[in-house]
Amino acid sequence: MIGIISKSGREDVDEAVRTGKEAYEGWRLTPAPRRGEILFRAAELLIRNKETLGRLETREMGKVLSEGLGDVQEAIDMGYYMGGEGRRLSGETVPSELPNKDMKSIRVPIGVFCLITPWNFPIAIPSWKIFPALVCGNTVVFKPSSETSVSAAKFVEILVEAGLPKGVLNLVHGPGGEVGEYLATHPGVDAVSFTGSTDIGRRLEGICCSMHRPIVTEMGGKNVILVMDDAYLDLAIEGAVWGGFGTTGQRCTAASRIGVHKKIYDAFAEKFRATASRLRLGDGVRKETDVGPVVNESQFNKVLNYIDIGKKEGAKLILGGKAYREGDCAKGYFIEPTIFSEVHPEMRIAQEEIFGPVVSLIRVEDFEEAIRIANGTPYGLSASIYTGDVNATAIAERDLDFGIVYINAPTIGAEIQLPFGGIKYSGYGKKEAGGRGGALDTYSRWKVVYRDFSGRLQRAQIDK
Ligand code: UN1
Repeated sequence: MIGIISKSGREDVDEAVRTGKEAYEGWRLTPAPRRGEILFRAAELLIRNKETLGRLETREMGKVLSEGLGDVQEAIDMGYYMGGEGRRLSGETVPSELPNKDMKSIRVPIGVFCLITPWNFPIAIPSWKIFPALVCGNTVVFKPSSETSVSAAKFVEILVEAGLPKGVLNLVHGPGGEVGEYLATHPGVDAVSFTGSTDIGRRLEGICCSMHRPIVTEMGGKNVILVMDDAYLDLAIEGAVWGGFGTTGQRCTAASRIGVHKKIYDAFAEKFRATASRLRLGDGVRKETDVGPVVNESQFNKVLNYIDIGKKEGAKLILGGKAYREGDCAKGYFIEPTIFSEVHPEMRIAQEEIFGPVVSLIRVEDFEEAIRIANGTPYGLSASIYTGDVNATAIAERDLDFGIVYINAPTIGAEIQLPFGGIKYSGYGKKEAGGRGGALDTYSRWKVVYRDFSGRLQRAQIDK
């Protein structure tokens, strides 16, 4: 057993929001550098607890230990980055057109934030939201995925230990359909940040927009790696295996499509298949394991169903394609790394997010077609190109319709100091992570202040 968590009822959510509101006055008036210091302490505690938390994640949702540790590291990075923002949070001071008048923009908190997070990054994604929300002076009601409620609770405990005042961060548990939606639409909440499925995210966008409530969503992806005929093949294959099967394909940035230039398609497909066939499935706490299980029964069935769809659509299955039941794995939701070849870009397996270890290979005529196919889904989170042609990298960077573009690297592995997020059905509103233009803009708003110290009425645009 990993832990026992009590499910929150509506009255618990009411109380959490009320508590967040009460704590808001004190927190917003706490000097930002002091708020930041708590984040530094949280980052230090995360370092001290990194191994325990990483293992907990592996046990709770199945990602392999090295990735569990990476997940905690992402939160540590975010803690230090946002802790430093406590001494920046800068606005602008610009000259006025009138004498004896000054003017500036300042960042102010928004209020009580509802933060809803998924299970695939049980500590990193909460840190992307909680740390900037707190440093900007908001209070929080946090509802993590039920799949990873213990990791989330441990993360909150660390923030409490770091010295966060009572009521500033409030944790509720329960299913999204009940607790999450009730919270996001609660009259006491001022803004919402959601990471999860496109269906639920779009539903919340609709409701929040009709309530005139700011919302940020990070949702699905149908990310792509393009491999051109002048790419360094071994590097591209290594990237495709990591991008496609890392975290068992359960990243919103996972590379589920690979567009390969026709000149190297056959060589790529064979080598990719051979390399992926050597991945070892198993318990993620074991060092030798490369790929863990999918998170639960419903994902297991969903992924297997997509494999079926792929077969029926006429794609050529060249690796995997079924549940993996060797030894202890028979007791878990393991699926063999699966590769479909000769996938048509319009097939459902090339258009819809699968969120599992299933990769589609698409044969492309040339660079122009590759870009067209890459852009041809409803999503736009992460895209990558492998090529030795510097001009092609510049065009790809310009023309790939995605929030994140990688050159000679796979679609996963964004760093926290730049904004993270997609376009089209991958995301809505402002961005997570990063500073100005990213998380700081999401978790604060601008207030503009004009001060006239001339002692008389001065009329902008009229008086000279
Ligand atoms: C996600 O998949 O939901 O860029 C987040 C990456 C990680 C974050 C992924 N740093 O792959």
